[in-house]
Amino acid sequence: MNIIKIDSTSSTNIYLKELSQKQEVEELTVVQAYSQTAGRGQSGTSWEAEPGKNITCSILFYPSFLPLKKHFLLSEVIALGVKEVLEEFVQPVCVKWPNDVYINDKKITGILIENELIGQEILKSIVGIGVNINQEIFTSNAQNPVSLKQLTGIETDLDLFLKRMMKRISYWYDLLKKGSYSFISRSYNDTLYRKSGFYRYQDRNGQFMAEILEVKDSGLFFLRTDKGEERSYSFKEISFIY
Ligand code: BTN
Repeated sequence: MNIIKIDSTSSTNIYLKELSQKQEVEELTVVQAYSQTAGRGQSGTSWEAEPGKNITCSILFYPSFLPLKKHFLLSEVIALGVKEVLEEFVQPVCVKWPNDVYINDKKITGILIENELIGQEILKSIVGIGVNINQEIFTSNAQNPVSLKQLTGIETDLDLFLKRMMKRISYWYDLLKKGSYSFISRSYNDTLYRKSGFYRYQDRNGQFMAEILEVKDSGLFFLRTDKGEERSYSFKEISFIY
C-alpha cells in the first residue's frame, strides 16, 4: 500500500484519475488531501469537509477479475472496511444502502466510486471516501452529517485512522479477490441500516411502508411492502424517509 499525501486539490478522485492516466499507479494506492476545493458527492452533489479535519481520500483498484454483474461487491467491501474501522472508535455502525456509513440516523461517511470499463470488464475503480472525523460544525445542506468528534468528544489522529482504514479495506478486498462473494454479501446485508422491521420509503409513485429483503451483488435493493408486494430498486429510484 502506498499513501500519497497532498495539500490541496479540487477532488482526490480527479487527482488520482489523472495520476493513473499519466503513470503506472500500484493497486491500493491512496491519495489523502488536507483540503479539497471542489469535493464531489454522489449524483452531482458537493462534499463538505473542513480542511485538515477529515479523511478525504481516493483509492485505486484494478478489479478486472470481478464479473460486471457482481460489480456492487466492490462497493460492499469498501463500506464494510470503513464500518469496521469506525467500530474501533464508536458503536454501533451500519451501512445505508447503497454505500453510506451511518451511526444511528446520521451519516458519517460518503463513498463515491467511479469505474472505467472496457466491454464487460472493470479496468479501474477510483474509490473516493469522505469520513467526517474532527469537524464540529457542518454548514452545507448535506443530509444528517455527523463526525466522530461530535459523537465521542475526542480528537482522532487522521494518519492513524487512514492506516487502520486501509488495513480493513485491504482485508475485505483480499476476500473479494479470493472469490468469497457470498460471505461478503452476507456480511454487508447483516450490517444494513433498517435491516429489520418496516420503515417508510418513497419511490416515483409515492410513499409506502416496507421491510428490506436483500441487496443483490448487482446492487439491486429488494423490499417487501406492508401489503406483501416485492419490489426492487436501483440507486436513485428510491429514498429513505425519516
Ligand atoms: C456521497 O455523496 O455520499 C459521496 C461523498 C464522497 C466524498 C469523497 S471525499 C474524497 C473523494 N473526493 C471527492 O471529490 N469525493 C470523494
